[in-house]
Amino acid sequence: MTDSPSKPDVAVVGLGRVGLPLALSFADRGLNVIGIDNDPARLSSVREGAMPFRETGAQELLDRVGASGRLSLSERVADAARARHIVITLGTPSFSHIEIDMRDIRSALDDLLGALRPGHALTLRSTVAPGTTEFVAGYLAKHRGFQIGEEVYVAHAPERIAAGRFLEEIDSLPCIIGGVGARSGEVAAELFGVFKAPIVQTTPVQAELAKIWANILRYTHFALPNLLMMDCERYGANVFEVIDLVNRDYPRGGLAQPGLTAGTCLRKDFAFSEERSNAPGMLLAVSRVNESVPLFLVEGIKRRVGSLSGRKVAVLGLAFKADTDDERDSLAHKLVRLLERELADVVAHDPHVSTPTASLEQAVESADVVVVGANHSELCDPRTLAMIAERSSADCLVVDPWNCWGAGQVFAYASELAALGAPSA
Ligand SMILES: NC(=O)c1ccc[n+]([C@@H]2O[C@H](COP(=O)([O-])OP(=O)(O)OC[C@H]3O[C@@H](n4cnc5c(N)ncnc54)[C@H](O)[C@@H]3O)[C@@H](O)[C@H]2O)c1
Repeated sequence: MTDSPSKPDVAVVGLGRVGLPLALSFADRGLNVIGIDNDPARLSSVREGAMPFRETGAQELLDRVGASGRLSLSERVADAARARHIVITLGTPSFSHIEIDMRDIRSALDDLLGALRPGHALTLRSTVAPGTTEFVAGYLAKHRGFQIGEEVYVAHAPERIAAGRFLEEIDSLPCIIGGVGARSGEVAAELFGVFKAPIVQTTPVQAELAKIWANILRYTHFALPNLLMMDCERYGANVFEVIDLVNRDYPRGGLAQPGLTAGTCLRKDFAFSEERSNAPGMLLAVSRVNESVPLFLVEGIKRRVGSLSGRKVAVLGLAFKADTDDERDSLAHKLVRLLERELADVVAHDPHVSTPTASLEQAVESADVVVVGANHSELCDPRTLAMIAERSSADCLVVDPWNCWGAGQVFAYASELAALGAPSA
């Protein structure tokens, strides 16, 4: 890793879960890359050759790129202007006002303004609300007088990978590019053409809509079985059996499985549509369904075991989804908070996350309730259920909205699971 290599071809601003694998992937394709982040801890981790988070294959890639000398690092956003291509991979949270929070992007633009020259190409890789790419172009035109699309290029090329699959999907998912003005799309495609994925040119707003609606589709897709799970509790029905009845040999089926649906992207991207929606409230309702699953689980536990005060509850899995170490906006944390408000003694276990947790044995030992918070592969192993049956309290309630052990019960006692023939003790 160098601090000032030969002139970089591309700058990646924001070395997070999107930016760092992207910067490494550009360098691996032979480009000289400058990676920029204002978090000194993140930079020193990369400088020392250690991935700051888990992404399949990324550590090996960092080792290879580090040895190649093609990645340099900086804390200063203005250094991005040393490269012709500047790719913005900063976070874009949403305010609680149902509005995109563009503070990081605005701050990076202000840092770059004085350093931009004709020929520069700025690509927004972050997920943004419709109209943001045109706003960025307008901001550069207003403050520097550039002809966007002719002198300076601005495009949106949304990141669409799923965490854990970055290195596979960067070469396979069609790369959508929406360029402003005559040539921005073409110039951005020169950069993203280093990957094998096909490039699809469109307008900036269509690129923005395509990205957020892919996430809205997923968020809504999972809200339906989550709502059904709550309805089934009301009617004394089994959600897994109903889903099977819907889907089995039915050409128009396709209902997904329930679970804790959130994470940093799904939880906020719908708000970028909702901020100017023609049907205000529809996606908020989707969000409310997914956000109410932890409370539904806590209430279901209380209905079965009574007060949770002083009772030991093991939460297995804190990440927002299976087999990741990403805990941002995870509903497992909301579940823990709600359980603690019932005065339960909560002990969490997660083999992946950076939050310190107990071992699996410690978590389930004498537990009155065990809840699967994230369906990590090792937790869904039948041996985990066997350990729960062996070590937890005699009438331990097992809560598994993911059906990770195939028992087909959201709420069941460990003894019932054994009787059902689930692979337990
Ligand atoms: N995480 C995903 O799986 C995923 C997938 C697709 C799209 N996205 C989108 O990509 C974007 C980035 O997401 P992420 O998960 O990588 O975010 P992140 O929070 O992991 O990364 C952002 C990085 O930018 C740095 N940063 C913040 N402000 C800065 C500034 N002013 N100057 C320099 N560095 C700064 C932070 O230190 C951090 O390392 C978001 O818009 C997100 O919605 C994320």
